[in-house]
Amino acid sequence: MKKLLFLSMVLLLGVSTLFAGCGSQKATQQEKVLKVATCADFAPFEFQGKDGKFEGFDMDIIRAIGEKMGDEVKISNVGFDGLIPALQAGNVDAVISGLSINEEREKKVAFTNPYYQSGLTIVVKKDNDSIKSFSNLAGKSIAVQIGTTGATEAKKIPGAKVKELNSSADTFIELNAGNVEAVINDKPVNAYYLVKSGDKNVKIVGKPLTSEEYAIAVKKGNKKLLEELNKGLAEIKADGTYAKIYEKWFGTKPSVED
Ligand code: ARG
Repeated sequence: MKKLLFLSMVLLLGVSTLFAGCGSQKATQQEKVLKVATCADFAPFEFQGKDGKFEGFDMDIIRAIGEKMGDEVKISNVGFDGLIPALQAGNVDAVISGLSINEEREKKVAFTNPYYQSGLTIVVKKDNDSIKSFSNLAGKSIAVQIGTTGATEAKKIPGAKVKELNSSADTFIELNAGNVEAVINDKPVNAYYLVKSGDKNVKIVGKPLTSEEYAIAVKKGNKKLLEELNKGLAEIKADGTYAKIYEKWFGTKPSVED
């Protein structure tokens, strides 16, 4: 009998401390969670480091903005063509993924102010003399990442055979394997690939085809979050955090347009 009493007392104590634990946790838990989706295959903007940690320019930017907002930033990895649907379905609050602002996307989501100036370039094998610019791409086989602005532009090229792949890394694999003659990707991603991979067999050719701006996307109508993100972005630009992050990933100071 005594044993039973003792046991139930222990149980009761346990349960009450459990509740107390919950209560006190709630009281100190002022941080909101900002659920962010990215497609982490796009170095130096988003990729997973050795330990699976999300790294890159975009990742640092969103964490810095989250800090200004007093939010805990939770990042999840989503296929590039699934990012906007994830936002529309309300599975995430925001998308940061080297996502270029364009008319088609503006119909589906709302964009913050831009945070990076980009454009598209071509990568070919070093020994390729026939492709020197976008005008030489007619009738050629080209690898692109599915759902990207690069894919849209490639499909406009007369007679081009466009191979849409899941990641930008796959586009380089296809080029190296000789399955395509060219790759169209964002300029900074192509440049980073050339330097970081040490791939001596490929080169970048031509001038950037487009001028694109990256921005963070939120669900249409989510004005409150859009304003908070814009405010956070302005703050990290004003206090030098943005410039520090920019230098960390690009090795130069940001220009006025960035
Ligand atoms: N800027 C291009 C676009 O918006 C490519 C972005 C690809 N981003 C990525 N994380 N894979 O379509």
